[in-house]
Amino acid sequence: MKSVKTEPPGRKTVQDLIGKALCAASLAYAPYSRFQVGAALLCADGSVCTGCNVENASYPAGLCAERAAVAKAVSGGKREFAAIAIVGGRDGKVTDFCPPCGICRQVLREFADPKRFYVILAASADRYRLFTLEELLPESFGPEKL
Ligand code: THU
Repeated sequence: MKSVKTEPPGRKTVQDLIGKALCAASLAYAPYSRFQVGAALLCADGSVCTGCNVENASYPAGLCAERAAVAKAVSGGKREFAAIAIVGGRDGKVTDFCPPCGICRQVLREFADPKRFYVILAASADRYRLFTLEELLPESFGPEKL
């Protein structure tokens, strides 16, 4: 639930996450949209869990890269996260930012303090934008509301 880091990740960490997200995107299973997405989720213990989108012939059954990364982390016993880097592009060519969909923002919210969790949108290792989750999902609904 809580994120440990309060400072935004430094350039070296950001670039490491972007590199891992790009590798993850290359593994995407996206035969329908051909839009390949990769995510690299930095856990509070310093480990990184990656994910890619996994599409399905029954389209709504497809899974986004960010949620694949969260599922990998949580099923490995990790629930505290500091940041996520996301990349995406048609046929794996990343030329622009790939903002997370609304469902993925909400899933990240489940495990993050929105003021202290960082979302890195990257077009390359040098071209990226850093947001707090709160900026991308203001006035959010989370577990502490229940
Ligand atoms: N996609 C993601 O993996 N993450 C997002 O946040 C946006 C969309 C995937 C879903 C689908 O496989 C493809 O991109 C096109 O929508």
